[in-house]
Amino acid sequence: MAPEHDAIDAPTTRAGTMSRKWDRYASRGDPAPLWVADMDFRAPRAVVDAVTDVARRGIYGYADPDAATIAAATTRFREWHGVADADADAVRWLPGLNPGLNHAVRAARRARGAGRVTTATCAPIYPPFSYASRNDEGGKAEVTLRRTIEDGRARYDVDWDALEEALAREDVAVLLWCNPHNPIGRVWTRDEMTRVARLCVAHDVVLCSDEVWRELILDETATPFCGAGSLMDDVDGLRERLIVMTSPSKTYNVAGCDVAMAYVPDRTLRAHFARAGADKAEITPFGYAAMLAAYTDPSCEAWRQRLLETLRANRDRVDAALAEDANARALVTWTVPDASYLTWLNCEALVERVERSPFEHFLEHGVALSDGAPFSAPRAARVNFATTREILDRGLTGIASALASASRRDVSH
Ligand SMILES: Cc1ncc(COP(=O)(O)O)c(C=O)c1O
Repeated sequence: MAPEHDAIDAPTTRAGTMSRKWDRYASRGDPAPLWVADMDFRAPRAVVDAVTDVARRGIYGYADPDAATIAAATTRFREWHGVADADADAVRWLPGLNPGLNHAVRAARRARGAGRVTTATCAPIYPPFSYASRNDEGGKAEVTLRRTIEDGRARYDVDWDALEEALAREDVAVLLWCNPHNPIGRVWTRDEMTRVARLCVAHDVVLCSDEVWRELILDETATPFCGAGSLMDDVDGLRERLIVMTSPSKTYNVAGCDVAMAYVPDRTLRAHFARAGADKAEITPFGYAAMLAAYTDPSCEAWRQRLLETLRANRDRVDAALAEDANARALVTWTVPDASYLTWLNCEALVERVERSPFEHFLEHGVALSDGAPFSAPRAARVNFATTREILDRGLTGIASALASASRRDVSH
C-alpha cells in the first residue's frame, strides 16, 4: 500500500486541479475551503487502481455495467439499504443523484397524469431538492424542521403536523426525503421513517428517499439506519410509491466519477422514472469501475472504517472549538451530526450584528463555508470537516476570528 493511502489525513493540495471547492474562492484571499460536499482525501487505493486501469486502456467508449457490477448494486441495496428482496430489474443507473431527484419529480407528475405538481421537502435542505421542483416548473411545499437548542448545540426534528398538512395538499405528488439528512446530519429513526412512509401512502405521495449519506453514519450503534426500502413489508402501499437512491460518491469520494443508482420496485413507477430520465447522460466506464471497486474490494471497508474515525474526530473538534468559544455560544448554534461530514451553523444572532450573509462574513475572515441561502436558510452556513487537521484548524481559526470581530461590533445604533 502506498504511503499516501495509509493515512486518511495525508496532506493534499487540490489547488489548481479544477476543484470547485478549492478554486472558486481562491482569489478572495485563499480561504480555507470548507464548503462543497467532497473530501480532501484520496479515494481508497482499490478505487484509484480500478479507475487508473480504465484510463490506461485509452479507449473511452460507451459502457454498460457487467454482471458483477449489477450484482454489486443489488447487494448494496439489500445489505445497506434494507431492501430485503432487492432485484436487479428494479435498479436504474444514474450519472448522479441530482439527475435522479429531477427524474423523481417528473416521474411523480407522470404517474399523476398532471401537468404540474408540487414537491414537498423538509428544510433546511440540500439545494438541488428545491431546484428539482423548479426545474419541472412545479411548486414546492417546504416544511421547516424544528430546532431545539441545548448549550449552543442544535438538534432538528420533523414538524409532523406541518408535514402532514403539506402531504395532504392535492397538488403535492412527491416528497424528496433525505436520510441521513443534509445539511442537519440527522439519521431518522425507524419510528420516524415509518411515520413518513405512512403519511406518503395515506396521501398518495411518491416517497423518494435519498440515502447517499448512509455509509457515513458516525456511530451506527447510537443512531441505527432505517432505509425506506426496509419498510415495504410493514407499510402497505409503499412499494408502489417508493424510489430509493444512493451512490458511492460521498463515502468513497468519487463524486467526479458520476455514478449513482436508484431502486424503484414498482414496475409502473419505474417506467415513468425511466422515461422521465431518458435525456440523462451516460454513466462513464470510470463511474462503473469506481463503484465496483468501492462496493466489492474488502480493503475499501477497512478504509471506510479509518475514514469514520477521522470524521468523528473532526466532528468533535469542530464541536469543541465552538463550545469553548464564548462568541460562538452567543452568536451561533451548531449541530453535532449523527452522520456526514457537515456541521450546520445557524447564525441569527451573528447576522443581527453584521447585517449581511454569514457566508460573506466568514469568507472575509478566511474560511469558505456553504451559504445557507440556497438551503432555504439565509441566516445559516454549512461547514465541511472532511479535510486535513491543518486545513480544518485554519478554517476554525477563520470562524473564531469572524465571530470575535462580530462580537466587538457596536450594536448600540
Ligand atoms: C443528499 C444529497 N443528494 C445528492 C447529492 C449530489 O449527488 P450527485 O453528485 O451524485 O449528483 C448530494 C451531494 O452533496 C447530497 O448531499
